[in-house]
Amino acid sequence: MRHIALISVLTLVAAGALAAPKPQPAAPQPAAPIQYASDLIARGQKVYRSQCIACHNVDPRKPGSQGPDVFGSSRVLLEARVLTLNYPPGYTPKRMTKNMRALPYLKNDIPALEAFLNTPLP
Ligand code: HEC
Repeated sequence: MRHIALISVLTLVAAGALAAPKPQPAAPQPAAPIQYASDLIARGQKVYRSQCIACHNVDPRKPGSQGPDVFGSSRVLLEARVLTLNYPPGYTPKRMTKNMRALPYLKNDIPALEAFLNTPLP
């Protein structure tokens, strides 16, 4: 009788172990924010201040006199918007106005603008 009790206890323990959730693989870590070179950020800030703040806010996290906040703009968005006045496919614009002008001569400054607009301000 003892043996039977012991066996059933062991069986229950074993069943519990089997039912226990398997350890999950570690969750993927969120991608670390890109660290841009400080000279690229500085150049982007210069370009932004000379070319964009007539309409966008000097603090890109805030809306400007005409343009919306642009902090966090991706490279594809900047290329599409600044160079050709388009939006990337499927992108929902923050504003439906058509007041911006294309600035295609900034072709070589897009990486700097990206760096500036994606680096948290001090
Ligand atoms: C003449 C004013 C003006 C200038 C100069 C200007 N913008 Fe804009 N921008 C706007 C306006 C207004 C919008 C909203 C859409 C529209 O009306 O074209 C906009 C929209 C944008 C958007 C899209 C925002 C979104 O997510 O929907 C980005 C990105 C942007 N501007 C970046 C820039 C950058 C970078 C510069 C400088 C290189 C710049 N703009 C210069 C007026 C301007």
